[in-house]
Amino acid sequence: MARARSVYRCAECGHDHPKWVGRCEACGEWNTVAEEPVTVPSSRRPVSGGKAGGREGGSVPQALSDVEQSRLVRWTTGIPEFDFVMGGGIVPGSMALIGGEPGIGKSTLLLQTAARLRAAGRHVLYASGEESPEQIRLRADRLVEDAGPVLVLGETRLEAILEATRACRAELLVLDSIQAVYTDALESAPGSVGQVRECSAHLMRFAKESGTAVFVVGHVTKGGTIAGPKTLEHIVDTVLYFEGEGSLDYRLLRATKNRFGSVDELGVFSMTERGLSAVPNPSAVFLAARSEGTSGSAITALMEGTRPVLVEVQALAARSGYGTPQRVATGIDPKRLAVLLAVLERRGGSSFAQLDVFLQVTGGVRLREPGADLAVAAALLSSLHNTPTPSDALYLGEIGLGGEIRPIGGLERRLAEASRLGFRRAFASPRQGVQVPGLKHVAISHVDELVRALAA
Ligand code: TYD
Ligand code: MG
Repeated sequence: MARARSVYRCAECGHDHPKWVGRCEACGEWNTVAEEPVTVPSSRRPVSGGKAGGREGGSVPQALSDVEQSRLVRWTTGIPEFDFVMGGGIVPGSMALIGGEPGIGKSTLLLQTAARLRAAGRHVLYASGEESPEQIRLRADRLVEDAGPVLVLGETRLEAILEATRACRAELLVLDSIQAVYTDALESAPGSVGQVRECSAHLMRFAKESGTAVFVVGHVTKGGTIAGPKTLEHIVDTVLYFEGEGSLDYRLLRATKNRFGSVDELGVFSMTERGLSAVPNPSAVFLAARSEGTSGSAITALMEGTRPVLVEVQALAARSGYGTPQRVATGIDPKRLAVLLAVLERRGGSSFAQLDVFLQVTGGVRLREPGADLAVAAALLSSLHNTPTPSDALYLGEIGLGGEIRPIGGLERRLAEASRLGFRRAFASPRQGVQVPGLKHVAISHVDELVRALAA
């Protein structure tokens, strides 16, 4: 009998099984067993490219000051929002993962990127296990970019893809998607934990050794995270998420991990008839559809990475039919909404107990920082009392459980953006020193002051 090429190893305790089992025989954990090759797994080999390697293959320690300073080269794509989120451009020899729901535009973005790098004289290969070259051609024909000279390959065997990459001396390899490829080293099906992990480790090593920049598409689960083992995100250099509210044309690109730049930078795109186009001024776009003079709306400025972005928070409080009132939140953590409603009730004397509450953030943006609390409270109170918030005002502050308004960071930059867009008043904690020309600081220290202002 041939020697087994792979084992099924428990991720918790490391116990090996000859075949797949749902529960580890050693530690009893469920769903921890995944296939791994018996040969030295590529994930265990160094990814340094071996330049600093010692004689017997191992590395020798060296003083940091002796480490050669390499100048980081970046290839810019000319899609400014994309380069910005990547930290300035694509780094040769790096590997990036882009996740997002089906239909959001991952393949389109990467094809546009490939076309642009090709136009800049780089060799690129677009390997797809999801679509045939004919389907890719159909998409390519729609784009503003000329994707004609981009090499495409319909293939799912990783070894064959890497062979082709070497053969055409590609400097950029796009792989759509990691869940569709498999390596000969394992017997399990494409998309299984073992395959995804092994293929990514292999790709990472290939990127470092050859200097090829590798982009892989990753599908997301219902929970919104990239499907497959968490180690996938640990292996790669950069993790991007492409997201957006289904009905809206806006697409938000975000880096959640970047070894070559900062994270949480936001790039906004719109999906047009001719591919994705970058939106250089997201605040203006998010506020464009704003209905001034309508109650239930409040503006805040979020920090998306290093950039301030103005968004509108919309609330609607309506008499509940019967039973438990509904709480529907889009773009905000429902638990945070519950906390703010409780604070408004107990500290501000404004009861939402008999009301259905709907809350949303325009543009598909998510409120991820507590600095948006004050705007959420203002939108809620504005809807409750049917009083519009002033159209030239924005709200910035975290709300504590005592109803106190707390200062927030990065205020100067947020206000500079607001001032640029014509805002004249900023409601914020009195402890916040606001010094932005053209903007008046309206000190507000407790939610009951907000209640008084909006219940008038
Ligand atoms: P796609 O890149 O295939 O998404 P993903 O790879 O993330 O699944 O994008 C598919 C959607 O984008 C599809 O609904 C069609 C639309 N689209 C446009 O509106 N305009 C275009 O120019 C292109 C290429 C696609
Ligand atoms: Mg796709």
